[in-house]
Amino acid sequence: MAALKLCILSSEIMPYAKTGGLADVTGALVHELALLGHEVRPFMPLYASVRRLPDMSRVAGAEAVPLDIGGVTYEFSLWSARGPDGDPPMYFVDCPPMFDRSAFYTTDPDEHRRFLLFTRAVIESCQRLKFAPDVFHCHDWHTAFLPLYLKTTYAWDRLFAGSRSVLTIHNIGYQGIMPADALPDLELGTEESRLDQRDLRFGLINSLKHGIIYADAVTTVSPTYAREICETSLGMQMQGVLRARAGGILGILNGVEYQDWDPRVDRYLAARFGPEDLGGKLVNKQLLAQGCGLDLPASAPLIGMVTRLAEQKGIDILFDSLPRVLESRSAGLVVLGSGDARYAEFFAGLAVRFPGRVAFRSGYDEALAHLIEAGSDMFLMPSRYEPCGLNQMYSLRYGTIPIVHRTGGLADSVQHFDAAQGSGTGCVFEHYDAPAVHWALNTTLDWFQDRPAWLRLMQNAMAADFSWSRQVREYESVYGRVLSSSA
Ligand code: ADP
Ligand code: GLC
Repeated sequence: MAALKLCILSSEIMPYAKTGGLADVTGALVHELALLGHEVRPFMPLYASVRRLPDMSRVAGAEAVPLDIGGVTYEFSLWSARGPDGDPPMYFVDCPPMFDRSAFYTTDPDEHRRFLLFTRAVIESCQRLKFAPDVFHCHDWHTAFLPLYLKTTYAWDRLFAGSRSVLTIHNIGYQGIMPADALPDLELGTEESRLDQRDLRFGLINSLKHGIIYADAVTTVSPTYAREICETSLGMQMQGVLRARAGGILGILNGVEYQDWDPRVDRYLAARFGPEDLGGKLVNKQLLAQGCGLDLPASAPLIGMVTRLAEQKGIDILFDSLPRVLESRSAGLVVLGSGDARYAEFFAGLAVRFPGRVAFRSGYDEALAHLIEAGSDMFLMPSRYEPCGLNQMYSLRYGTIPIVHRTGGLADSVQHFDAAQGSGTGCVFEHYDAPAVHWALNTTLDWFQDRPAWLRLMQNAMAADFSWSRQVREYESVYGRVLSSSA
């Protein structure tokens, strides 16, 4: 395929800002698409924590650019920094009143305005850079108004005459809903008629919905999630607009950046290992146990979790089942997570109730996330829904057997182990309820006791391959398709 000009815009991109998998995936896309020879220009907001990075410079010609949002004139400037490991430079939209806040995401009343500004600032930056992207690739609700802006506010600009837009939905549970009285903030003028009028009558404006309606192609992050959001209540009221899209919704499974997430090369690990030499895994298990204050017999299995503490992640079905498993089996548990207080209290309570066997670390810790992947025997991910999920794929490479609910990308990346056949890579439970996860935990702990079966399972898991080099070709095909169709 001929080299394309690609503009990737996202609220978080590795290695600059990350709260979850969105950053891993947009960072990977930048890296992999550039490797294929495309001209990739990634944009993200200049958050307070990013501002402290060295090696950033202002972009000439894009300084103090005025931008009206809801009758208020803001000013933004564009910064750029050299990309890591030969990656393309990153562009940062700087607007201190909007992005110098205590967190990337807020519950402030102007949250929608922050990302409207970001979205329009990216378009206006392209104008100033005289950069005409073949494709604007938007991610999640934060940038979902871009396709409509291209067709309205910026339709006059011939620079974008050949530009197309792609929206990737990473999580339909977050739609960027604002009250209808935020209408002037969109600055759409007479084009307001292109907004969903029914929602407006109900007093709402839904950012993601307009991306779904107006993007030239819509993708999501696994084939099963693509089906689930079109056909089941996991579409969270978007089933109708999703099904109305002529080209459908394409599910492209996320990949893994194995230069970051492979125990053979993982820079966070003191002891590296691989399928041919598993010795290092035991060293990591000891280091993890010591570091977290666990006191487990060497033969006891260790279950790991790294998760946002959000309802999506399935912690509710652990409330009864997990204490019962810990009472009846000699397993250990280590959990790293941040988010809702009620889930943090649950895990903190388990650590008190099972001293030396359960550790809970609250907060965000990249190094510990890697050590948990490397040092645990199993990885628990009982998500109620999971658009793709990355940790189960990371776990496979580390020989850390995933225990997952059959949903979304979990269903597409983990096969239930068949001990008789020696096939499969993890434990997959069907129903989202406490008995099912209780069964799954016990089943996996039983497999662990059968050493030949367990080694087989580990080898199967470690051989699974979810390299981005394959998945990124699917995005190339989507770009090719939107460019060959008329706007
Ligand atoms: P989601 O994006 O829904 O949170 P994913 O499985 O796609 O789920 O991605 C989560 C990513 O965020 C993984 O890279 C995981 O290691 C990381 N992560 C989640 N919580 C933490 C945490 N508390 N500390 C460090 N990394 C975390
Ligand atoms: C979202 C989803 C997660 C997915 C990630 C990256 O945060 O919750 O399942 O892996 O985006 O696409």
